[in-house]
Amino acid sequence: MSVFFAPEHAHGYHAHAYDEQVALFRAVAAKQRRRKFFEGDTHPVEALDYGSGWQGVSRVILEGVLSAREQLFLYDRFAAIKPSGTPNVHQATAKDIFSGKKQFSIISISYVICCMAPQEARTMLAELQEAQQSAQYVIVDYTLRDRTREEVLALLTSNQEMKWRRHMGEDAFAQTRMQHTPQSLVELVESAGLRARNGKAAPMDPAGLRSAIVAEAQENTPPCLIDMRETIGRETRLSLSVGEAIM
Ligand SMILES: C[S@@+](CC[C@H](N)C(=O)[O-])C[C@H]1O[C@@H](n2cnc3c(N)ncnc32)[C@H](O)[C@@H]1O
Repeated sequence: MSVFFAPEHAHGYHAHAYDEQVALFRAVAAKQRRRKFFEGDTHPVEALDYGSGWQGVSRVILEGVLSAREQLFLYDRFAAIKPSGTPNVHQATAKDIFSGKKQFSIISISYVICCMAPQEARTMLAELQEAQQSAQYVIVDYTLRDRTREEVLALLTSNQEMKWRRHMGEDAFAQTRMQHTPQSLVELVESAGLRARNGKAAPMDPAGLRSAIVAEAQENTPPCLIDMRETIGRETRLSLSVGEAIM
């Protein structure tokens, strides 16, 4: 049977991966709120969307997940960022992030690693974790190494993806999205000094086209976080696979 008749090719599982990412951010935000509560920290959650783009998926989701009191910081080294009309959404500078003066509770790195060669991504993650030791890192990216170029182009057709395809050209777009398997993504993240929860990347859709890792700096596993799966499971609609692998 031609790959073009496989069910995933009908829609590329864009909506499925989006819904999983919403649930994942929701679960991590709930966890960090709880962590602050247990530690007697009354400051609201502050999240960083690292590599946010003009108005990427991660920003849209985080704006919806965080409360009005919680703060969202956006950073992109190369792209302009759409100004926000919302008082709790700000732009961060490299100094805010890498000086470590400001400590974020959540750092999203959503579809950013695919834009970099592995060595560059490792350096970026290593510098980030050095400066940001108390964050929960939510890393979402494509895991399409085992697919052909034709399959990748047939699969990644959401509006956002078509925008990047036009911008980068189809060859560069496909090659960058085919860099990783779930395992190589975990290895990359761990080689930068982060620890992936349960040592796993979880599939974001039934075909594993995209995967997610929740990670933290290696020295940072407070006892109150060790087993919150049950409480979190009650509050979120994470699929079993994502929930089991990363919470
Ligand atoms: C495919 S977009 C993803 C945007 C958004 N995070 C999302 O989930 O839709 C990747 C973004 O990462 C940014 N980026 C690439 N390398 C970066 C780096 N070293 N530091 C910060 N941002 C970077 C690019 O400029 C681009 O806007």
